[in-house]
Amino acid sequence: MTDFDQIRQGDCIAGLQTLADGSVDLAFADPPFNIGYDYDVYQDNLQNDEYLNWTRQWMSEVKRVLKDDGSFWLAIGDEYAAELKVMLQRELGFACRSWVIWYYTFGVNCTKKFNRSHAHLFHMVKDAKNFTFNADQIRVPSARQLVYGDKRANSKGRLPDDTWVLRPQDLPQGFNADDDTWYFPRVAGTFKERQGFHGCQMPEQLLGRIVRVSSNEGEIVLDPFGGSGTTLAVAKKLNRRYLGFELSPEYVTAIQARLDGITPGDELEGSPEPQVSAPSTKNGRRVSQTKTRPKKQKTESHTGQQSLPGMDG
Ligand SMILES: C[S@@+](CC[C@H](N)C(=O)[O-])C[C@H]1O[C@@H](n2cnc3c(N)ncnc32)[C@H](O)[C@@H]1O
Repeated sequence: MTDFDQIRQGDCIAGLQTLADGSVDLAFADPPFNIGYDYDVYQDNLQNDEYLNWTRQWMSEVKRVLKDDGSFWLAIGDEYAAELKVMLQRELGFACRSWVIWYYTFGVNCTKKFNRSHAHLFHMVKDAKNFTFNADQIRVPSARQLVYGDKRANSKGRLPDDTWVLRPQDLPQGFNADDDTWYFPRVAGTFKERQGFHGCQMPEQLLGRIVRVSSNEGEIVLDPFGGSGTTLAVAKKLNRRYLGFELSPEYVTAIQARLDGITPGDELEGSPEPQVSAPSTKNGRRVSQTKTRPKKQKTESHTGQQSLPGMDG
């Protein structure tokens, strides 16, 4: 019998192997991207084949532990997005519901390539006809409602979709939550939400959308790569059961402290309305350069702010 509502220190493959078949409703994974990021204990620089074989192993375990109507969301960078999407569908037999682009600001400035401002989020399901999709939990106001005052508008709003947005601040009418590219600012060093011990912390609002749409209260949410514990924190706040694995003892201690500070039902950090937390340059507050930086963080996060080969900005 698996104990849930905990973060477990250790390798996720070994941890996943302790779980029963079909025991998880939603798995969200934000694995190391194999780009040389400076984690506490994990070495993020495997040979290509080694990385792909390792990924195949843990993703196979995720598939096994998912319920038949379960969902798997994978966050991944450009480097392996194409290969892993093929692996998920052709080799592991998942069905892809959506290929979501998470567009973010505060990426590193490059000089010989375009600045990275997105990560890929693959929404995979085991059964293309039978899966949880709580549309009403994640609707956003539609342009018909906001701009045109159209009486035919669905009063519940519409589902987010996918559109290219360059910089929300530069759009004539700002960024709309109903555009097809999801915009959440990265959890920058100055944000209240920032835990400070992990450079790859994802925003709670982003995980909130995934947990709400792909699981119900009381169901099991799994994250094989705990990191700063965002998935587990959000699952706890949204009254889900949760289980996470994390290799680093130091991160596990910090995740546990984060979870201990949460009461189910607590508000998610960050603004559900992206514009509120992304002030235009003109009106935005000045940011001190001396504020908190995560311990051990020589490079920036794999979602956008890391110094990568060829990223010399
Ligand atoms: C990109 S971070 C996850 C960040 C997380 N999504 C967040 O919002 O904080 C990936 C994490 O996976 C951990 N990790 C790497 N290999 C692992 C393994 N085999 N088992 C468990 N955790 C692992 C790393 O230590 C790192 O903290």
